[in-house]
Amino acid sequence: MCGIVGYIGPDEAWTTIVEGLKRLEYRGYDSAGIAAIDSQGTLRCVRRKGKLNVLLNAVGGDWVPGKIGIGHTRWATHGRPSDENAHPHCIDDIALVHNGIIENAAELRDMLLAQGQRFTSETDTEVIAHLIALSKGDSLEERVRKAIPQLRGAYSIAVISSQSPDRLVVAKQASPLVIGVKDGVGLIASDIPALLDQTQTFIFLEDGDIAVIKQSGINITDINGKAINRPSKTIEWSPTMAEKGGYKHFMHKELHEQPRAMADSIRGRVRADGTVHIPEEILHKCASSSRIVVCACGSSWHAGLVARLAFEDLADIATEVELASELRYRKALLDNRSVVIAISQSGETADTIAAVKLAKERGATTIAIVNVMESSLARLCDHVLYTQAGPEIGVASTKALTTQMAVLILMAIAAGQYKQVLSETSAQHIIAQMLEIPRHLESILEREEELKSIANELKSAQSALFIGRSYGYPAALEGALKLKEISYIHAEGYAGGELKHGPIALVEPRVPIVAIATEGPTYDKLLANIAEVKAREGRVYAIGPENEPRLAHEAHRLFTIARVHPVLSPLLTTAALQIIAYHVADQLGADVDQPRNLAKSVTVE
Ligand code: G6P
Repeated sequence: MCGIVGYIGPDEAWTTIVEGLKRLEYRGYDSAGIAAIDSQGTLRCVRRKGKLNVLLNAVGGDWVPGKIGIGHTRWATHGRPSDENAHPHCIDDIALVHNGIIENAAELRDMLLAQGQRFTSETDTEVIAHLIALSKGDSLEERVRKAIPQLRGAYSIAVISSQSPDRLVVAKQASPLVIGVKDGVGLIASDIPALLDQTQTFIFLEDGDIAVIKQSGINITDINGKAINRPSKTIEWSPTMAEKGGYKHFMHKELHEQPRAMADSIRGRVRADGTVHIPEEILHKCASSSRIVVCACGSSWHAGLVARLAFEDLADIATEVELASELRYRKALLDNRSVVIAISQSGETADTIAAVKLAKERGATTIAIVNVMESSLARLCDHVLYTQAGPEIGVASTKALTTQMAVLILMAIAAGQYKQVLSETSAQHIIAQMLEIPRHLESILEREEELKSIANELKSAQSALFIGRSYGYPAALEGALKLKEISYIHAEGYAGGELKHGPIALVEPRVPIVAIATEGPTYDKLLANIAEVKAREGRVYAIGPENEPRLAHEAHRLFTIARVHPVLSPLLTTAALQIIAYHVADQLGADVDQPRNLAKSVTVE
């Protein structure tokens, strides 16, 4: 939520800032703004409600000049999207951008009003700008240091001052912030992709850090001014990975990257002898745990549902799946025999981080499954397994989700082998099929036109139902979520067995039913559900195994996937459903990469 970028160096700051903001727009697009200090020491700011393009058009070529500047793209929390509420917030010599929420903003605002300060926005951010602006005389970092103890909540901030145009000052508490390392240039951003065209080396700030970034170097301290050493790390993502590369949308590009992302996520973990490599300490913890609790938000939670089935089926480990936003406020009965697996693409989702903190307090072992290297969750958890999806920019998760599922399935296989409850023959059979998944994903993409024509039939629906059972159920939930989030068609995912308990009342010719048929004990049951729908004039679009005449006979349209072990089927059915949702949204002319009201990285509650 909200993206911030800052630059100090030999060039015009706005060029790097605009490029960075373009790559950060997935964090929010309610407004955008840039402030810079010119060579005369004048601070100027431009900001507009709406996407970055609105600002670009408004400014034309007439940018704020200066070799130091900060920029922001907003996801509104306090205060509606408007020009006034757009960041940067400029008070006196100060310009400030903020990502996060200040919980005591109302009290601080009252205090500042009583002192005679005037407010021009409804944001919580403006109070921070006032607090810093008020303390005059000191260095900019001292002024930030004085303001910060008054704040309660989450923030990463970047501040510049016309009184000290040689430095950017940043501070972080519970919202992400990275420093890009490059000779003679100071760079900061909310996230790695923003700066990938400038550097691949980053310093990851920790909560409580305050950093002064000058052209000559970086100085990190704690709130008391005590020096802190934070090592820099080189990230293997290339700048082109964060570009559209000729595709109309990032989401489309990322769908086409799935075979490669899947191959990278699987191959690094499967040894030449066909066994799975997951660190033994992780396997031991999982195998000896009283239960595994998986927690996540959004699509990542759907990967958790696949993990539950896989851990139970392959490793005989009792597993629960929790929405992180619920778990964090429950009397969760976690202890030192519990293992908590947190799944997150970004590694920055506020609720997931809070749930992990709670789990740690209760003594549980925590394992992160994340995509973004050195993200907050990766650093917080006792263990981390990275997916190798590469940067994901489209707001709707695609390759990040399927690679999460793959890593979790590999964990379950390895845990089953470790506990000796999964026979070597079965393990080898599943692993051999898993290595074929990238090829099957490629053949799904080769048949994209088929999925596009299904999308063409679905796009006129007002509402759609997705049903599945067992491994088809998480895919049904994901298919419905994808459709609603990017095309705004109302859609619900249901376990097939629940159809008769309510949703069947919705069945009529105008409500398409998307059925995800997965081989295994529930296959015939789902066929029965399809028959019940058909009997009520429902139109069924099925995704299911090839060479299955019964399914072909029952469905109005059928998209077949390769016959694989049921545990692997969500890797293929989910990909097919994502492609359908993409084409529905694209055919409806929706803003696929930046759906209304959403942001990719939900760093506030
Ligand atoms: C947002 C995104 C989703 C994502 C969810 C969890 O809602 O739009 O695509 O699944 O956050 O994000 P995470 O980074 O924790 O996986």
